[in-house]
Amino acid sequence: MAVPPPTVRPLQPPAGSRINFGAQIDGIDLENLTDQQFATVRDALYHHHVIVFKNQQKLSPKAQYELTKRFDPASDNYGHGKALDAKRSILHPDLKTIPHQPQVQVIGNGFVPSYEGLENVQLKHPHHRTFHKDHIPDDKDYDFTRFYRWHIDAALYDLYPPQVTTLFAVNVPKGRRQTLLYDDGTGETLDVPLGTTAFVSGQQMFDGLSPKDQEFVRTSKIEYAPHPYIWMSSARSNSTGLGLHPEGLELPESKLPPIDKEKIMILPMVWKNPVTGKLAMQVHPSAIRRIHLADGTVIDDLRRVREIIYKLQRPAISPQYVYPHDWENGDLVLFNNRGVLHSVVGAFKPDEVRLFRQCNLAASEPPVGS
Ligand SMILES: [Fe+2]
Repeated sequence: MAVPPPTVRPLQPPAGSRINFGAQIDGIDLENLTDQQFATVRDALYHHHVIVFKNQQKLSPKAQYELTKRFDPASDNYGHGKALDAKRSILHPDLKTIPHQPQVQVIGNGFVPSYEGLENVQLKHPHHRTFHKDHIPDDKDYDFTRFYRWHIDAALYDLYPPQVTTLFAVNVPKGRRQTLLYDDGTGETLDVPLGTTAFVSGQQMFDGLSPKDQEFVRTSKIEYAPHPYIWMSSARSNSTGLGLHPEGLELPESKLPPIDKEKIMILPMVWKNPVTGKLAMQVHPSAIRRIHLADGTVIDDLRRVREIIYKLQRPAISPQYVYPHDWENGDLVLFNNRGVLHSVVGAFKPDEVRLFRQCNLAASEPPVGS
């Protein structure tokens, strides 16, 4: 009997939403993905950017890794390489490596006695209190939340940004919702399920810019800080999670591990979609250091660099452009890491156990600009 072809259904945005991305794929066995099915998945990914597969409870870490790798067969190392060994990296506490599949990381919240070769794991969902300059008062912490940190999954030093990331929900505590506050004077808020992952489209970010700003981002490049996650370890974020507060708390180069100038990343601000050719504004706002203009001028003043990028990115994280995924056990979300920005959201109670697996691979090629 012939297997029916998989179906790709665009997500239905709720009333008032303006998101134009996201799709659900049904009818695919991810443990035994044929070349033809993978072609469908890849095409859907580059048209819809965030792909949801439901009821994947049986998905092995190996199959998750293989799906991720299929987007870039020459890649093999986890997206942050071994940089996470550096205990000073702000990413270090959030990730536990699966021993038999080291490209796959366990993330989440609460105590997990045993999972995939990891024993007695204490997970901690990143909380904005530890990263934002100011925070929601403790007595309101379970009702209100923020975007923790808008980002692209990328080491941004030595290693190229991964093509895709897969996020797999093993266990999701359900029930509560929270009100996400922007706390930036706009009064904007967003109703979100507990522990959502929030996505915005880099293509919508680019398309929403004025022609003059589009020209600017098409022709300028971003230089990222060396060892960015150690560099920013003392700095604090804006209340929107979109970039750092201009306080000058970044570590001086003398306090960083040795810097190899060759490994510093200078990347285009817009990255071209390999299937549609459309442009996405893809800048990791916390890690930016300098802007290189088309005429060779370099903007070195960090406060100004941050102001420029914030102004360009902020409109596209307004509530109507955000897709907050409502996680259920067994969801596998595959996203175009070169076409979206995403953020952790939410504040869990210590006994709310959330268990997720994440995989991405440092890419074999840099992103292509316009
Ligand atoms: Fe991420």
